[in-house]
Amino acid sequence: MKYPVVCVESGTSIQRAIQSIERSPFDAAFVLDETGSYLGGVTIMDLRRLLISGGQGKEKIGEYPLKHEFKLTEQSIKNREESGRVVSDMELYGVHFVPVLTPEGKVKDVFSIEDLSRMHGLSTNNAISTKPAGRVLVVGGAGFLGCVLAERLLQRGFSVRILDSFIYGRRAIDSIPGNAGLEVVEGDLRNIHTCVKSLEDIDAVVLLAAIVGDPASKIRPTETIETNVLATQALASACKLHHINRFLYASTCSVYGIGAEELDEQAALNPVSLYARTKIESEKIILGMGDDYFSPTILRMGTLYGYSPRMRFDLVVNTMSMKSFTEGEIQVFGGKQWRPLLGVEDAADVYIRCIEADLREVGNQVFNVGSDIQNYQIDEVAKIIAGTLGDIPISRDDSNLDARDYRVSFDKLTKILQFIPKQRIDTAAREIFDKLNSGAIQNPEQKIYYNHYFDSAEE
Ligand SMILES: NC(=O)c1ccc[n+]([C@@H]2O[C@H](COP(=O)([O-])OP(=O)(O)OC[C@H]3O[C@@H](n4cnc5c(N)ncnc54)[C@H](O)[C@@H]3O)[C@@H](O)[C@H]2O)c1
Repeated sequence: MKYPVVCVESGTSIQRAIQSIERSPFDAAFVLDETGSYLGGVTIMDLRRLLISGGQGKEKIGEYPLKHEFKLTEQSIKNREESGRVVSDMELYGVHFVPVLTPEGKVKDVFSIEDLSRMHGLSTNNAISTKPAGRVLVVGGAGFLGCVLAERLLQRGFSVRILDSFIYGRRAIDSIPGNAGLEVVEGDLRNIHTCVKSLEDIDAVVLLAAIVGDPASKIRPTETIETNVLATQALASACKLHHINRFLYASTCSVYGIGAEELDEQAALNPVSLYARTKIESEKIILGMGDDYFSPTILRMGTLYGYSPRMRFDLVVNTMSMKSFTEGEIQVFGGKQWRPLLGVEDAADVYIRCIEADLREVGNQVFNVGSDIQNYQIDEVAKIIAGTLGDIPISRDDSNLDARDYRVSFDKLTKILQFIPKQRIDTAAREIFDKLNSGAIQNPEQKIYYNHYFDSAEE
């Protein structure tokens, strides 16, 4: 056969069939009876819809009426009219391959829409002529990382649904260029109904929504526990029930708190804030749910930096760049603490790599996300930014120290996902400074740029 499409026997359980399709480059399977004769085809979405409407996953796939019975025979494939009819039906249902059957009903060959179109000179809708990259739910897609990730996913051909309660407004989403693949749902992750509804027809979930940062969670402990732990757990459970196996959870290197050695994913966790404790709690809950059919990936990111349409000025590189502009001075608290840094676009790149990777490589695992070369001491960060922006003076204040101090190993990420960062703190600082200087970002003191003011964020 020209294409190694997935064939499953009618006695296969729905959850096994989903798993087989997911591990293949295709989004559908041919269902065969016990003698190997073709019964019909199902897409992964058909199977997930069965689960959403109450199926358990253990039922045999042959017990359900099959959704697609497209087929050609060795005779009918030569007929232009017959092939054209099958191609338009396939396009309508988003199916990309059709079997060619022997007179006994066995699959002899497989043809794609393009093959048939070329053969008979048919015109097709190219938008669905290859396997769709899939539909990704980005919860917290209007945030600092979320809006950058959503735009990149769209550029890469994914459909994106954003679920966000817009704590910091929705301007970042509105700046994403018009795109038919983008759907925006305003809602709160803590609402179970909203959360389940947002999973309809989704292939992969990225959970970014949280009360983010030590100061913000200190001010809002109840919302932090509700969002970062309880709602997170509910979303992961809903994904597991619906067999949405690919679940990326945004955690943080803050879980390491304070550590003398270079810390890999096995290192002891030593949280120094409620924020980090809630992230650890959720990591444990989510990983505990993992099995062959729900394969979460925990991404412990370093501190992000860089420009995003939802700008944050409460992240170290961004703060120093902004202070260089507004005060002509960089203030350093302590300075000896180690902190792994990661550009926001590089972070988005890692999420996309995980979504596109074989689930067996990335599922049911924890990754530190960053790069060894961007483990910095805060003093060094200040010196690089000050030098880049033109000898900005650096002042010190040792009265208000951030207790976090950790140096992290990113070997696993480099090895498995071959990630190499493209962003650098000097160029990111320059970009932010220039945006302030040109007026592209105005009034950086506005509360909306600082997560710990979120209850009183103003436009
Ligand atoms: N920014 C960093 O340096 C950093 C570092 C490590 C990990 N992380 C993690 O990455 C994720 C994204 O961080 P960010 O910097 O983009 O944060 P952010 O605060 O900019 O974005 C969070 C988004 O989630 C939304 N949100 C919050 N609660 C919600 C709820 N109950 N329902 C729906 N939407 C809700 C907010 O409106 C916001 O758009 C977070 O989970 C954070 O813990 C961030």
